[in-house]
Amino acid sequence: MLVLGVESSCDETSVAVVKDGKEVLSNVINSQIDIHKRFGGVVPEVASRHHVYQVSMIFEETLSKANVKPEEIDLVAVTIGPGLIGSLLVGVNAAKTFALLYHKKIIGVHHLAGHIYANAIEHEMHFPAVALLVSGGNTELIYMKDHFSFEVVGETLDDAVGEAYDKVARVVGLSYPGGPAVDRLAHLGKDTYALPRVYLEENSYNFSFSGLKSAVINLVHNANQRNESINRENLCASFQASVCEVLVAKTLKLAKEKQVQQIIVAGGVSANQGLKERFMKENTEFELCIPSIRYCTDNAAMIAVAGYYQFQKFKKEDDLSLNAYASLDLEELYEI
Ligand code: KG4
Repeated sequence: MLVLGVESSCDETSVAVVKDGKEVLSNVINSQIDIHKRFGGVVPEVASRHHVYQVSMIFEETLSKANVKPEEIDLVAVTIGPGLIGSLLVGVNAAKTFALLYHKKIIGVHHLAGHIYANAIEHEMHFPAVALLVSGGNTELIYMKDHFSFEVVGETLDDAVGEAYDKVARVVGLSYPGGPAVDRLAHLGKDTYALPRVYLEENSYNFSFSGLKSAVINLVHNANQRNESINRENLCASFQASVCEVLVAKTLKLAKEKQVQQIIVAGGVSANQGLKERFMKENTEFELCIPSIRYCTDNAAMIAVAGYYQFQKFKKEDDLSLNAYASLDLEELYEI
């Protein structure tokens, strides 16, 4: 089965062709990072316009790289949310146009399901599983009994992890997107600054990162006022140590409680080296799945793979009234 995936929820325009939910024939990603860098973050209206410029050329490039004719596609899978509404609409309308033109089945996929199923490209998924979803907009702990069964057990009460990384990067003078830059500097430093570990109340699987972020900001501002210098490497290492300790501890606790087979890490922050190292150090019990870096951040191959499994499970296609949603509840969409 050949699935054409389409992703445009934020600042990447991506189209992919994936065979049988596994073999990525092509995965073209056009990133707008350089365009948004000068603003220090993604500007929604600018993002939508660039999706419009790019999208049809990316469809063509993807099919040509996969050496697949439009007629050969069996299913179109497109991200319908959550994300920036203007950006999402470009991908959804392009996908619907393709489906209408070539008489193809189409299904809408939840962006976070896409991140989780990025793991199915290089690993076999085994259930029950716990998924730690860490991205620029989301931080969630999800229990999965089976394919496409999502129970959100914990989530951030304020900032998403990626958002905290991006803000910390800004305050220490690193450019957008800050996550990879903080990760790199962290590996050159040591955990020397005393930063809080926010576990919230006992037995809570929720997260909070705004206090940690403010602690870093205050530390830098106080040092500036006193004309003292900050060791950026050590500050990044200390911030990363605090984030990773809490993420790994809560994930392992839930994995033990639910007696899962597998721990799945997904989303842009799953590219973080410190997080990977911490999981490898602390986890001896569970099979650990983390995607390769190219499948961690937004891409259409993960949407095609999620679309494949979604279609296998529900055997249901959408129609051309398919719409995009800035907010979209994962549990509700797939009704556990
Ligand atoms: O999943 P993603 O591509 O987009 C969303 O759906 O949000 O995630 C982007 C986020 C950004 O906040 C970026 O700074 C963060 O993932 N990120 C990282 C790393 N690579 C990307 N954060 C920490 N360490 C990294 N290596």
